[in-house]
Formats: sequence, structure tokens, C-alpha cells
Amino acid sequence: MSDFKMIRSPKTDQGIVLEDEWPGYDLNLFTYPEHYHGDLENIYIPHGVIMDRTECLARLVVDDTDDNYMVVLCVLKGGYKFCADLVECIKAVSHNTPKHMTVRVEFIRLKSYLNDQSTEDLHIIGPEDLSVITGKNVLIVEGIVDTGKTMKALLKHVKTFQPKMVKVAGLLVKRVPNVVGTLPDYVGFVIPNRFVVGYALDYNEYFRDLNHICVISDQGKVKYKI
Ligand code: HPA
Ligand code: MG
Repeated sequence: MSDFKMIRSPKTDQGIVLEDEWPGYDLNLFTYPEHYHGDLENIYIPHGVIMDRTECLARLVVDDTDDNYMVVLCVLKGGYKFCADLVECIKAVSHNTPKHMTVRVEFIRLKSYLNDQSTEDLHIIGPEDLSVITGKNVLIVEGIVDTGKTMKALLKHVKTFQPKMVKVAGLLVKRVPNVVGTLPDYVGFVIPNRFVVGYALDYNEYFRDLNHICVISDQGKVKYKI
């Protein structure tokens, strides 16, 4: 981990914006698993860029925290890679400062998507007892946030356990028309309303094992449809 200082700016604090016209990178410039050849349109956000941005977000989180204990609530399954990398960065960043942080990680499972469509019913499958968050600083970590509906429901659930403070980190936020819920406090990238996969984000459970965030091809959609 570098010891470069990050300049805090209102512009990047709200996430790195990828415009609607962003074409992504040519697939031939990067490596990715052979079993996905033909199933991807482009490399939308390369793994290295995700890692750099994650380090920036970790610095913001550590800067904003008034406590040296934090419970990270990882939203499965799509948030698992971002959560693992963010926690490592929070530890690495804070261990270089007097604010040496202890991070406890808990997991919660949400499910609302079939194929590339959001369904109405949201299931929260999580630890029965979330009382470990009572009176603590909580950071909810999500891979992707679109309408914010899921996040709104989850926040309501989490707040019933009376944490000291709750913040949300989302690696990706989609620009969608009907935003109803809350946006994350920490945003990695703001992306167009396109279905993306990789870095733990799936299409019917496929592509979680891809390190880059990519746009799926029509062939990929057909191949893994249920
Ligand atoms: N990809 C994968 N999972 C998702 C997405 C997406 O674009 N949006 C909401 N869940
Ligand atoms: Mg999914």
C-alpha cells in the first residue's frame, strides 16, 4: 500500500462517474478466464482500477470514523469481493495511523434478481441475531446499488438493532430513473444503467469469478439464461 495522500474533493467523493458513452476497454487488452470467451462485450472497469478506488474509499472511511471499532456488514453475494478488499484497505490504512482499527465482519444475504431483472420480493437472509451491532459503528458494504430499494429495506432492518451509526459503501451506483431509496455515503463508481458482471456481481450465479467488471454480451445472456 502506497503512502500517497489523497486529496479529498466533493467531486470524487460522490464517486467516479462513467458517462453513458463510456465504451469500456477492448477485451484483448486484458486477461480473463477462458470459459468466458465470447460471453463479454468489453472490460468496463479493470480490476486494478477497482483496487485503487477501493483504497481511496478506505481512506475516506478511516478519516470519517471517530471510533477504532467497526462492524462491517457485508451484503452477499455481490458485495463479497469489494468487502474483502475494502476491509483489507481499512486495516492497512488505519494501521499506519494512531486510529488502529479493529474490524468485525458480519454477513447478510439479500436476493432480488432473476436473469437481469429486479423482482419485487426481497429476501433478507442473515444472521438471526444482529445484536453485535447495537451501539456500534456499522458500515454496510454493497457491490451495486440501483433504485436503492434494497438498501432502504436493509437500513430499516439494521436500524432496529440500534447501532451508534450506520454508513453505506457501494462500489457501483447505477444511474437509474426511479431512485426511491438512499444512496451510499461512499461510492466507488457511478455507472450508466447497464447490466454488469464480475468482481462478485453475477448473472444467474455466473461471472462472480471474473476479476474485472464487464458488460455481458448477447451470447453470454443467452448461454446462462434460466
Ligand atoms: N449486475 C449484477 N447484479 C446486479 C446488477 C448488475 O448490473 N444490478 C443489480 N444487481
Ligand atoms: Mg445477483
